[in-house]
Amino acid sequence: MTLRAVVKGVGHYLPKRIVENAEFEATLETNDEWIRARSGIERRHFVSEGETTSSMATAAALAALEMASLTAEDVDAVIVATSTADFTFPSAATTVQAQLGMKSGFAFDIQAVCAGFVFALSNANALILSGQAKRVLVIGSETFSRIMDWTDRSTCVLFGDGAGALLLEAQDGDGTTADRGILSTDLNSDGTQRDLLYVDGGTSTGTTGYLRMQGNQVFRHAIEKLSRTATTAMDAAGVKSTDVDWIVPHQANIRIIQGTAKKLGLSMDKVVVTVQDHGNTSAASIPLALSVGVERGQIKQGDLIVTEAIGGGLAWGAVVIRW
Ligand code: UT7
Repeated sequence: MTLRAVVKGVGHYLPKRIVENAEFEATLETNDEWIRARSGIERRHFVSEGETTSSMATAAALAALEMASLTAEDVDAVIVATSTADFTFPSAATTVQAQLGMKSGFAFDIQAVCAGFVFALSNANALILSGQAKRVLVIGSETFSRIMDWTDRSTCVLFGDGAGALLLEAQDGDGTTADRGILSTDLNSDGTQRDLLYVDGGTSTGTTGYLRMQGNQVFRHAIEKLSRTATTAMDAAGVKSTDVDWIVPHQANIRIIQGTAKKLGLSMDKVVVTVQDHGNTSAASIPLALSVGVERGQIKQGDLIVTEAIGGGLAWGAVVIRW
């Protein structure tokens, strides 16, 4: 028998406020056509006063727990992937833990920017396989609208806010690729490329700072690194791209999503796409897409799923999951 980290529940939260591309035309030299053509984004959600990374994370977690027919008392660990925690510390995860009324177990954040959810899934899997936790809430939640420079048209039109969560549970499998659960993970980073995408604030400046990105340079790395990490993860799991039911990619840019699918030899009808409605929600984008994919009836139990993401660091990776 082989221990597996199996998805028992999934959920998401999106702020009520929806901002269409055209709204940016009033304050910036940009237009709906440019944003759609270059990124595939049509609209995004932004938090309102009182909504935070942790409040959205808690809402998504409650939805995942409900689907799993579990309560917070059943959870051993809470991991929040985020680069926009409410405060420098404590972690967003401990705030979520408090909001869920949990006084036991352990909670911590993972910060790998847009690849954060893939890194969090990999860590949750390791906790479960090593016997340190039986049930783990893995959440991606971001309020990138609070680190936008609203005068920088090359970044502020691209990002959005939201949260998604998975409840993973330890279950015995047969050790074959037919097992439900996480089948493999692949993580990478290259700190020499950290200047391509960063926030210009933190303890060194005493400010929160704003996101800065050399978008076309990140783009240059994306398709090659994403297809390579997805292939490495599939090889490690012992599956082929023809076995895959759904690619659930980080939702940054439709051209990156299409280019990566093409490189993997998969058609776009095997890809869950939400970028048009959510924009780039960084570490929240994959769990949001998983939850929306289930809601739409695309993702079903037993499906073979490959998630892949790249972002600031640069950090990138992929996870193969039998849903
Ligand atoms: O999630 C983390 C990882 N991040 C990503 O994956 C993002 C990767 N990068 C991208 O998605 C794309 O590079 C962007 C969508 C950011 C930009 O698309 P691009 O095709 O790479 O455009 P570009 O940056 O090369 O800019 C082309 C032109 C420039 O004008 P010039 O220099 O050619 O005259 C920009 O100034 O488009 C201009 N531009 C805009 N024009 C209208 C930049 N932003 C805008 C805008 N509206 N909002």
